[in-house]
Amino acid sequence: MCGIFGYCNFLCEKSRREVCDTLLNGLSRLEYRGYDSAGFAVDGDIEDTLIIKQVGKVAALRKLTDDQPLDFSKPFISHCGMAHTRWATHGQPSQINSHPQRSDDKNEFVVVHNGIITNYKEIKLLLEKKGYVFESDTDTECVAKLTKYVFESHNKELNFTELVKTVVKELEGSYAFIFKSTHFPNEIVATRRGSPLLIGVKTQKKLKVDFVDVESSDNSFATVEGQDMSRPALNRSQSRAFLSEDGLPQPIEYFLASDASAIVEHTKRVLYLEDDDIAHIADGELHIHRVRRSKEDNTAPTRSIQTLEIELAEIMKGSFDHFMQKEIYEQPESVVNTMRGRVNFENHEVTLGGLRGFTHIIRRARRIIFVACGTSYHSCLATRSIFEELNQIGTQAELASDFLDREPPIFRDDVCVFVSQSGETADTILAMRYCLERGALCVGVTNTVGSSISRETHCGVHINAGPEIGVASTKAYTSQYIALVMMAIQLAQDSKSSQKRREEIIDGLYRLPSDIKEVLAIDAKLQQLAVEQLAQEKSLLILGRGYQNATCLEGALKIKEISYIHSEGIFAGELKHGPLALIDETMAVILVMTQDKYYPKVQSALQQVSARSGNPIVICNTGDENLKNHHRTIEVPKTSDCLQGLVNIIPLQLLSYHLAILKGVDVDFPRNLAKSVTVE
Ligand code: UD1
Ligand code: M6R
Repeated sequence: MCGIFGYCNFLCEKSRREVCDTLLNGLSRLEYRGYDSAGFAVDGDIEDTLIIKQVGKVAALRKLTDDQPLDFSKPFISHCGMAHTRWATHGQPSQINSHPQRSDDKNEFVVVHNGIITNYKEIKLLLEKKGYVFESDTDTECVAKLTKYVFESHNKELNFTELVKTVVKELEGSYAFIFKSTHFPNEIVATRRGSPLLIGVKTQKKLKVDFVDVESSDNSFATVEGQDMSRPALNRSQSRAFLSEDGLPQPIEYFLASDASAIVEHTKRVLYLEDDDIAHIADGELHIHRVRRSKEDNTAPTRSIQTLEIELAEIMKGSFDHFMQKEIYEQPESVVNTMRGRVNFENHEVTLGGLRGFTHIIRRARRIIFVACGTSYHSCLATRSIFEELNQIGTQAELASDFLDREPPIFRDDVCVFVSQSGETADTILAMRYCLERGALCVGVTNTVGSSISRETHCGVHINAGPEIGVASTKAYTSQYIALVMMAIQLAQDSKSSQKRREEIIDGLYRLPSDIKEVLAIDAKLQQLAVEQLAQEKSLLILGRGYQNATCLEGALKIKEISYIHSEGIFAGELKHGPLALIDETMAVILVMTQDKYYPKVQSALQQVSARSGNPIVICNTGDENLKNHHRTIEVPKTSDCLQGLVNIIPLQLLSYHLAILKGVDVDFPRNLAKSVTVE
């Protein structure tokens, strides 16, 4: 999905080459989010703004930049630039539709934008009536043009913050923006509503305090139609964080981004903007204002400057060919990180700090409702039954999009659990807000500290899997799965009757890293299977039952997502209600048949398939004598029934990876998909 990056240097000389490289490198760090075009804006030579945009990868934009007849050695003591990777929502991927979007052919106001402006047609119509001519199909262009219109209709008297404040008050939808203007050289304004935006700060000297004050201003704002011309009396206090000891301005650099991966190589000191914050960077100072200051505004009076904990090395590929491969192989470690400090393997106890103070409420819930999309939804399906078994609370799993369409009744005694790797998936966020409004306790399970879901839920669990960059989710799935199992165990901790069962599961969690390693060790065999038996298939069915229903859906999603082979996960219990008609000697089938209480039923599914000349590849436990000599098998170690899905998914992740390679797919960036789906 779209990515934003901005860079401001103050009293810290950089050549045009260095500025462009910083912006382009920032975009490269955001590539994993998925995009189809990219662009950036920097200062020109005559108090103008240069915009360079290109369809395709950041590498193509870099080449186009190098081809420009520019003096790349030109120094800038202070400068503000901004950049963007676009994933088309309004209009085709094209140079003209890429960002930055501009107000006019002199580039007076330029804007980069993540999100969607839902009332852009109305604004466009209004501006067209005023004589503005639009060049792109984007919703964003109306924002650039509206900014110019508002500026001019106020006799160019508004300062940059007031101007943006007035503009965004006219917008509906979700957004993160950066604005740059020839009228405000070396200044930048950033604001957000519904889309993440953070600011990294880099100074030589230590900051005086680790927060930035939210500044107050009076409520008399300018309006679009220009009736109120009074300039608000801004109560501009210098942000305490940036005061130098001697009172002299100090060199400083700011990095703005929609996600921390673009910032961490420059600085670890970041602050996250809240919805409706307006950040203004000028003269080396960062000021934060609110779009509206009202009595109901209960956001904190400061924004804290936090220290990022991710290392750049964590988001690099290392010795692997692809991020997805690296992430599959990281699982013996990432599952440990999810459990670290939370599972006591000796006392058989689980303590999730994030649920402290909330477990008694969750235990009293009338229902537990999981809400998620894609892979995250599958982790909910995989763990739903252990929740029900241990806690005897009705537990349902909902796809966020379907949940929103239905608008189901939600009550104060419901507990709603929102599972999302990114914490920024639009459907899941909207479902969360729906449940918050109805008074349910909202719990987040996310991999991204500081994400919208992490911040807006009442409590939750960070899965601590480390950054996941491949679009296909792998290590986040296993970590989400474990986080949910831990949650189920913690809720049942006081129950004597389930103690043995809890101990058995915790022992299984202890063995999990070595179980996963055992499966990774058969990777060469899986690669051979992909090359010799599966790569030519047009369609592939994955069958299983009980705990393994989720494994089938997740395995099929992986395969279709990155190898573009049609694949369907089928609940074996449903076989004779329809899907059996598909089975003949040509249909490729993988059957998940590890040993649990459903084994006899899956055996009968195997017979039904075999009787129709099907010849499935069977994922079974090591040494299963019933299968070994009669079928093609993939052997995996046996673990607790409710954890077996964590082991069984590994061969399917690896198979999907090898199939994608054989098909020549760009594994980490499959076509038409984005890592973080921040629009509905
Ligand atoms: C926390 C610290 C961790 C530290 C540990 C030591 C953070 C992010 N985590 O981990 O660095 O090592 O204490 O005791 O600082 N939350 C939500 N919604 C979510 C996810 C989390 O509201 O979707 C909340 C939790 O309720 C909690 C906080 O965020 O208040 C941190 O959650 P989590 O990281 O899971 O807590 P700990 O494991 O205790
Ligand atoms: O960030 P989230 O977990 O909320 O994302 C949800 C889905 O978009 C995501 O799991 C998607 O299905 C994956 N690309 C699948 O590999």
